Amino acid sequence: MVTNREIMSVAAAEGYAVGAFNINHLETLLAVVEAVVEERSPAIVSVTPSAIKYAGLEYLAAMVKVAAGKVSQPVSLHLDHGKDVDVVIRCLDAGFTSVMIDASNLSFEENVEMTSRVVELAREKGASVEAELGKLAGVEESSVEEKDAVLTDPVAAKKFVEQTGVDALAVAIGTSHGAYKFKGVPKLDFDRLGRIREKTDVLLVLHGASSVPAWIVEKATKYGAELSGARGIPEEHIKRATSLGVSKINIDTDLRLAFTGAVREVLATSRSQYDPRKIVGPAKDAMKMVVKGKMRLFGSAGKAT
Ligand code: G3H
Ligand code: 13P
Ligand code: ZN
Repeated sequence: MVTNREIMSVAAAEGYAVGAFNINHLETLLAVVEAVVEERSPAIVSVTPSAIKYAGLEYLAAMVKVAAGKVSQPVSLHLDHGKDVDVVIRCLDAGFTSVMIDASNLSFEENVEMTSRVVELAREKGASVEAELGKLAGVEESSVEEKDAVLTDPVAAKKFVEQTGVDALAVAIGTSHGAYKFKGVPKLDFDRLGRIREKTDVLLVLHGASSVPAWIVEKATKYGAELSGARGIPEEHIKRATSLGVSKINIDTDLRLAFTGAVREVLATSRSQYDPRKIVGPAKDAMKMVVKGKMRLFGSAGKAT
């Protein structure tokens, strides 16, 4: 496995972005790895603390190591939204090649302090570090209300990077986690992103980047899902963010929606089916289609042999 720094530095230099796909179980990992091979793309496999709670750190780490060992394309194993030093240490010990410390709910000084400590720990293991400045709204283990969201200040970003030495910075420019990102017209603060890019050459990350594609929502809804008002980031916005220097793009919601739609379809149309492989197998294929689409959209398809 390689580090996010390695994957992202190449992407940043060549002007594309790499998808960071959240996994909680085998099927999502298979979807990502099969897409890596078929699209000849690098990929970042992300695991959150709640994924660890669900599946167990050893299981997740071992699965990703096996998967990465089977392919020739670059794959990293990344802790997404690590909230404390303890989970970071556990992941580094389990062989993660990259960790995110998300202390964005703390004060600037406390964020600097915790991030610096994580940078120190990660350096000992040769792993890379992502931190977050500003606050994204939406669904996470501890959700941030829309009113509490804070966009990243470019001047503070520069100072933060200088004081911590992080490899990558997650910026808040109007995206949010989950399937309900906008009530009205989708709008991101590209001007802010441009100013952040001018102030620092840290690798940039966009969280909350799912597009919530209409076709996935329609399919899930057709088979009984209730997703009214679901809205994501338009694909043109993703392209623009990439052109402004974002080199890692986080995707979870679109995989969840694809999984849900496919499982609902099987259960609704094959009522006598009770083989789990025939139920989650199509869900894996649906997620793979999503991952492949992201790799093409982000420009990472064809970048790895
Ligand atoms: O920020 C990442 C997620 O989309 C939330 O994931 O439910 O595994 O914490 P989680
Ligand atoms: P989405 O909810 O838009 O997929 O964002 C996922 C994410 O940012 C994971 O860290
Ligand atoms: Zn996120």
